[in-house]
Amino acid sequence: MRIAVAADHAGFELKRHLVACLAAAGHTVDDLGTDTPASTDYPDWAARVSEAVREGRAERGLLVCGTGVGMAMAANRRRGVRAVATSDLFTARLAREHNDANVLALGARIVAPALAEEIVTVFLATPFAGGRHQRRVGKLDDRTDSEESPA
Ligand code: RB5
Repeated sequence: MRIAVAADHAGFELKRHLVACLAAAGHTVDDLGTDTPASTDYPDWAARVSEAVREGRAERGLLVCGTGVGMAMAANRRRGVRAVATSDLFTARLAREHNDANVLALGARIVAPALAEEIVTVFLATPFAGGRHQRRVGKLDDRTDSEESPA
Protein backbone atom coordinates (compact mmCIF):
# COMPACT_ATOMS: atom_id res chain seq x y z
CA MET A 1 0.00 0.00 0.00
CA ARG A 2 1.19 3.55 -0.72
CA ILE A 3 1.13 5.58 2.49
CA ALA A 4 1.88 9.28 2.94
CA VAL A 5 3.22 10.10 6.39
CA ALA A 6 3.96 13.32 8.25
CA ALA A 7 4.34 14.62 11.78
CA ASP A 8 4.95 17.79 13.71
CA HIS A 9 7.70 18.23 16.31
CA ALA A 10 5.66 16.34 18.92
CA GLY A 11 5.23 13.34 16.66
CA PHE A 12 8.36 13.06 14.59
CA GLU A 13 10.05 10.39 16.71
CA LEU A 14 7.01 8.11 16.67
CA LYS A 15 6.59 8.87 12.98
CA ARG A 16 10.18 7.77 12.35
CA HIS A 17 9.51 4.52 14.20
CA LEU A 18 6.30 3.85 12.28
CA VAL A 19 7.90 4.65 8.92
CA ALA A 20 10.50 1.97 9.60
CA CYS A 21 7.78 -0.52 10.59
CA LEU A 22 5.72 0.23 7.50
CA ALA A 23 8.71 -0.14 5.19
CA ALA A 24 9.68 -3.41 6.87
CA ALA A 25 6.13 -4.66 6.29
CA GLY A 26 6.52 -3.98 2.56
CA HIS A 27 4.53 -0.76 2.21
CA THR A 28 5.63 2.11 0.00
CA VAL A 29 6.09 5.02 2.36
CA ASP A 30 6.26 8.66 1.34
CA ASP A 31 7.73 10.41 4.39
CA LEU A 32 6.85 14.09 4.00
CA GLY A 33 8.50 15.28 7.26
CA THR A 34 9.18 16.77 9.73
CA ASP A 35 12.38 15.14 10.91
CA THR A 36 13.51 17.49 13.65
CA PRO A 37 12.29 18.59 17.09
CA ALA A 38 12.07 22.20 15.92
CA SER A 39 8.65 23.63 16.73
CA THR A 40 6.33 23.56 13.75
CA ASP A 41 2.62 23.85 12.95
CA TYR A 42 0.55 20.68 12.55
CA PRO A 43 -1.86 22.07 9.92
CA ASP A 44 1.03 22.43 7.47
CA TRP A 45 1.90 18.74 7.75
CA ALA A 46 -1.71 17.61 7.69
CA ALA A 47 -2.15 19.56 4.46
CA ARG A 48 0.70 17.69 2.78
CA VAL A 49 -0.67 14.28 3.64
CA SER A 50 -4.31 15.08 2.96
CA GLU A 51 -3.41 16.52 -0.46
CA ALA A 52 -1.50 13.34 -1.28
CA VAL A 53 -4.52 11.23 -0.35
CA ARG A 54 -7.02 13.47 -2.11
CA GLU A 55 -4.98 13.51 -5.30
CA GLY A 56 -4.50 9.75 -5.26
CA ARG A 57 -0.73 9.87 -4.70
CA ALA A 58 -1.31 7.84 -1.55
CA GLU A 59 -3.96 5.27 -0.68
CA ARG A 60 -3.80 6.11 3.01
CA GLY A 61 -2.32 8.83 5.16
CA LEU A 62 -0.69 8.69 8.57
CA LEU A 63 -0.24 11.78 10.72
CA VAL A 64 1.40 12.06 14.12
CA CYS A 65 1.28 15.01 16.50
CA GLY A 66 1.00 15.27 20.28
CA THR A 67 -2.58 14.04 20.50
CA GLY A 68 -3.65 13.35 16.91
CA VAL A 69 -6.50 15.80 17.40
CA GLY A 70 -5.13 18.82 15.57
CA MET A 71 -3.89 16.68 12.70
CA ALA A 72 -7.31 15.08 12.22
CA MET A 73 -9.08 18.45 12.40
CA ALA A 74 -6.78 19.90 9.78
CA ALA A 75 -6.88 16.86 7.48
CA ASN A 76 -10.68 16.76 7.55
CA ARG A 77 -10.86 20.24 6.03
CA ARG A 78 -10.04 18.61 2.68
CA ARG A 79 -12.92 17.20 0.67
CA GLY A 80 -12.55 13.47 0.25
CA VAL A 81 -10.35 13.11 3.29
CA ARG A 82 -11.79 11.13 6.19
CA ALA A 83 -9.34 11.35 9.05
CA VAL A 84 -9.73 9.68 12.43
CA ALA A 85 -7.78 10.42 15.58
CA THR A 86 -7.70 7.38 17.80
CA SER A 87 -5.69 5.72 20.49
CA ASP A 88 -7.57 2.42 20.49
CA LEU A 89 -7.86 -0.59 18.22
CA PHE A 90 -11.66 -0.78 18.21
CA THR A 91 -12.03 2.73 16.84
CA ALA A 92 -9.32 2.10 14.27
CA ARG A 93 -11.22 -0.95 12.98
CA LEU A 94 -14.65 0.67 12.97
CA ALA A 95 -13.32 3.83 11.35
CA ARG A 96 -12.31 1.63 8.43
CA GLU A 97 -15.35 -0.67 8.35
CA HIS A 98 -18.03 2.00 8.79
CA ASN A 99 -16.42 5.31 7.82
CA ASP A 100 -13.89 4.28 5.17
CA ALA A 101 -11.36 6.47 6.98
CA ASN A 102 -8.37 7.14 4.76
CA VAL A 103 -6.15 9.05 7.18
CA LEU A 104 -5.09 7.91 10.64
CA ALA A 105 -3.95 10.51 13.19
CA LEU A 106 -2.01 9.33 16.22
CA GLY A 107 -0.90 11.13 19.36
CA ALA A 108 2.68 10.50 20.35
CA ARG A 109 1.93 11.81 23.83
CA ILE A 110 -0.90 9.29 24.21
CA VAL A 111 0.06 6.00 22.59
CA ALA A 112 3.23 4.02 23.17
CA PRO A 113 5.08 2.87 20.05
CA ALA A 114 3.93 -0.74 20.39
CA LEU A 115 0.26 0.21 20.56
CA ALA A 116 0.72 2.71 17.73
CA GLU A 117 2.11 -0.11 15.58
CA GLU A 118 -0.96 -2.24 16.29
CA ILE A 119 -3.34 0.61 15.54
CA VAL A 120 -1.62 1.26 12.22
CA THR A 121 -1.69 -2.44 11.35
CA VAL A 122 -5.43 -2.70 12.04
CA PHE A 123 -6.13 0.54 10.19
CA LEU A 124 -4.33 -0.66 7.07
CA ALA A 125 -5.64 -4.23 7.13
CA THR A 126 -9.34 -3.58 7.72
CA PRO A 127 -11.52 -3.21 4.61
CA PHE A 128 -14.46 -0.83 4.25
CA ALA A 129 -17.70 -2.75 4.80
CA GLY A 130 -19.64 -0.80 2.13
CA GLY A 131 -23.40 -1.41 1.91
CA ARG A 132 -25.40 1.04 4.04
CA HIS A 133 -22.14 2.65 5.09
CA GLN A 134 -21.37 3.64 1.50
CA ARG A 135 -24.50 5.80 1.36
CA ARG A 136 -23.58 7.51 4.61
CA VAL A 137 -19.96 8.09 3.69
CA GLY A 138 -21.15 9.53 0.38
CA LYS A 139 -23.16 12.13 2.24
CA LEU A 140 -20.04 13.43 3.97
CA ASP A 141 -18.93 15.09 0.78
CA ASP A 142 -22.39 15.74 -0.66
CA ARG A 143 -23.45 18.27 1.90
CA THR A 144 -22.20 21.80 2.34
CA ASP A 145 -22.55 24.28 5.21
CA SER A 146 -25.32 26.11 3.37
CA GLU A 147 -27.60 23.08 3.31
CA GLU A 148 -30.21 22.70 6.01
CA SER A 149 -30.33 19.62 8.17
CA PRO A 150 -33.16 17.19 7.44
CA ALA A 151 -36.11 17.37 9.83
C1 RB5 B 1 2.08 20.63 19.88
O1 RB5 B 1 2.49 21.08 21.14
C2 RB5 B 1 0.68 20.02 19.94
O2 RB5 B 1 -0.26 21.00 20.21
C3 RB5 B 1 0.36 19.29 18.66
O3 RB5 B 1 1.34 18.31 18.44
C4 RB5 B 1 -0.96 18.53 18.64
O4 RB5 B 1 -1.10 17.73 19.77
C5 RB5 B 1 -2.16 19.30 18.35
O5 RB5 B 1 -3.26 18.75 18.21
